[in-house]
Amino acid sequence: MLTLILIFGICFALVYGYFWNRSKYFERRGIPGPKPESIWTGSLKTLQLNRTPINKRILEWEKIYGKTFGYFEGGQKVIASSDLSIIRDVFINKFENFHGRKPIHPFPFNPDTDERANVFTGRGLRWKRFRTLTAPCFGQSKLRNMQMTMLDTTRRVMDNLEERVDKELNISEVFLESSTDVIERIAFGKEKSSIGEQNPIMSIIRAFFDPAPFYDHPLLRFYTSLHEFQDYTFYLHKFLINMLGSPLFVLAKILIDVIAKRRHDHEERKNAAVLQIDQMNNNNDDCNSNSAKSNYEDFVDLFLNSEASDEDMKMIKASQSSFGNINRIKIEKKLTDQEIISMCSVMMLAGVDTTATTMTVTAYCLAANPDKQEKLVSEINAYIHSEEDINMDTVSQIDYLDWCIKEALRVIPIAAPANSRMCMNTCTVGDSQFLFEKDVSFVSNVWSIHHDKSIWGEDASVYTPERWDPIEERLPDEPLAYQPFGLGPRSCIGLKFAMLEMKLMFCHLLKRFRIEATENTKCDIYGIILTAPRVIDVKLTRREVNAQ
Ligand code: HEM
Repeated sequence: MLTLILIFGICFALVYGYFWNRSKYFERRGIPGPKPESIWTGSLKTLQLNRTPINKRILEWEKIYGKTFGYFEGGQKVIASSDLSIIRDVFINKFENFHGRKPIHPFPFNPDTDERANVFTGRGLRWKRFRTLTAPCFGQSKLRNMQMTMLDTTRRVMDNLEERVDKELNISEVFLESSTDVIERIAFGKEKSSIGEQNPIMSIIRAFFDPAPFYDHPLLRFYTSLHEFQDYTFYLHKFLINMLGSPLFVLAKILIDVIAKRRHDHEERKNAAVLQIDQMNNNNDDCNSNSAKSNYEDFVDLFLNSEASDEDMKMIKASQSSFGNINRIKIEKKLTDQEIISMCSVMMLAGVDTTATTMTVTAYCLAANPDKQEKLVSEINAYIHSEEDINMDTVSQIDYLDWCIKEALRVIPIAAPANSRMCMNTCTVGDSQFLFEKDVSFVSNVWSIHHDKSIWGEDASVYTPERWDPIEERLPDEPLAYQPFGLGPRSCIGLKFAMLEMKLMFCHLLKRFRIEATENTKCDIYGIILTAPRVIDVKLTRREVNAQ
């Protein structure tokens, strides 16, 4: 019995000693930061208490500990900084040492070995391959095709809004419905628009981006404290996901059916094409050989057909040496079904809430600044006479529209927590030669940089779209001063897609309606994944006919 107690005591002391020692990581290295409130979960409680937006806590800590500081998010060691010389090295100059991304969810999986990796979570060669295969989805000609779907959804949203004129509404729901419909149709090839219907996908997306604080759940709390042991806690991970459910599982289920159906369609089309060629040979007819092909490809089609060319493979393999020892993974030319599921899910997740929330904060800024809204409407009217004129070419000419959206994302950089990396090889960064060790994560303190008066001037916190006018010469020379879509080789792949969708939406919306603030209009930011408002109450009033 005594032996048993002794063994237990020694084991406990060893485990406790390990976690105690881990919690002293920053202190030992002289890196300032909040004292971990627990040796197991670090500062997770302070970070997530009362659903505090993560940016708020980081700003508070910056005031106390300076530009660069360290903290524990569960078992994750994180360094946050607004020092641009450090950010430049992490995101751009020393990318080969920072090609991983800090996990944002309570259930990170091993991005090198897990089948569910995708372009957002992958790293090293695996990420390079995903990125290479995804890039063609966002080419100019693809966007030109996609604008038809975006326009169709937007028109349906407008027609729906007609019934809601002069009544207060939460505009964030309107934009979420719209951007979900766009991605469902463009990424998943959904044939029918769901505007005006209950769409279950919307709640899946919100559940993903607005989870309950992990700290509140004892098992999740325990799991996040085991961060560095994820390879050994795989079964616990599986058990927790099964028990708590995951929005990703629900999306995956939908996608399995979509992919199976699409493979079947591809087979049928191939057979039809063979038949047609046979007929052409037999009849010597002047057939249009394209008629058996689909006119439009959604992301599922693109991923099913995508195959890295020999050139791509050479390029991917050439980058091998820069990714240290992450070379164990066999790089296939084609994506597996599981990878396609994961890629489509990430497009859904990365592309819907971000775009909807950006439209929401832009609408808020315009409602709170009616003079800017009226200026924007007259700029839109100068280029667009009727709703039929709204398209990719016309909206891209309206500079003031571009500035209004950019400025909203400067004042409220909703996706800032995604501007993160994971150190893959120990190295020094920044002017101060800060020693960054392997497996420590990095987050850019985007809110601080976007509101820094020494960069943006005394009115840094004021919504001023005019600052983007090159004639005013007010923009900082520093390219890293603005980072709503991230920085470097891993910056947002959907930027052009999102900007197009948002511009089409605001042209339609503002030609028909005025966005008016009410006594309930306020912008309360919260969230531990996206930092954004979830409710923006406004009233839409109809504009005079000559504005249309
Ligand atoms: C206004 C809307 C959007 C905002 C503000 C936004 C913001 C961001 C940010 C901050 C990152 C991290 C960048 C970094 O780590 O340097 C990111 C990455 C990413 N975004 Fe977006 N995003 C938006 C729309 C979209 C859309 C529409 C899609 C796709 C349909 C998309 C797909 C992605 C993907 C796949 C990544 C990961 C890229 C990689 O790791 O290589 N995003 N986004």
